[in-house]
Amino acid sequence: MAEDLNILNGSKEDQYENLLPQIKGLLEGEPDLIANLANIAAALKEQFNFFWVGFYLVKHDELVLGPFQGPVACTRIKKGRGVCGTAWEQANTIIVPDVEKFPGHIACSSLSKSEIVLPLIKEANVVGVLDVDSSSLNSFDETDKIYLERIIELIKF
Ligand code: SME
Repeated sequence: MAEDLNILNGSKEDQYENLLPQIKGLLEGEPDLIANLANIAAALKEQFNFFWVGFYLVKHDELVLGPFQGPVACTRIKKGRGVCGTAWEQANTIIVPDVEKFPGHIACSSLSKSEIVLPLIKEANVVGVLDVDSSSLNSFDETDKIYLERIIELIKF
C-alpha cells in the first residue's frame, strides 16, 4: 500500500476509525516486529500528535525502550515501577488522568501530564507495553483504551 497516511479531523472515534484500517494495511505482509511497532508509533503520532507514543519491550525481566515518536525517554523500567511497570505487573491497561497523582510515576519529561499504558500480551504473557503520553491533563478515556487495544491486537509477535 501507499505509505502516505490519510489524516482525518473529527471526533476521536472518527480519527481512530479512519486510522485503524490504515494501520492494518501497514502491517499486512510485514513480519518484522520492530518495523511494525515503528509504523504504529509513527501513525499514532501523525494522526493525534501525541506528546510521546511508543513501545517498551520485556527483555531479561525489564522493560526496554523500543520504537517510539517524541522526545528521548527513559530506556529501562523495572516490573511494578511507574505506569508502564505497573501495567506490565497487572497485565492491565492503565489510564492516568494526572501523572502527578500516580504514585511512582516515572517522569521521562516534565511536560507529560496524562498517560495511557496498554500491555502487549502473547500467549498469556506480557511481552511489552504501548505507552502514550499527552502534554494535557485528562487526555485519555475508554475510547482510547478500546481503539488502542484494537490496534495492538493487530501486532504479530
Ligand atoms: N511515564 C512512564 C515512563 C515512560 S515515559 O513516559 C515515555 C511511566 O511512569 O512508566
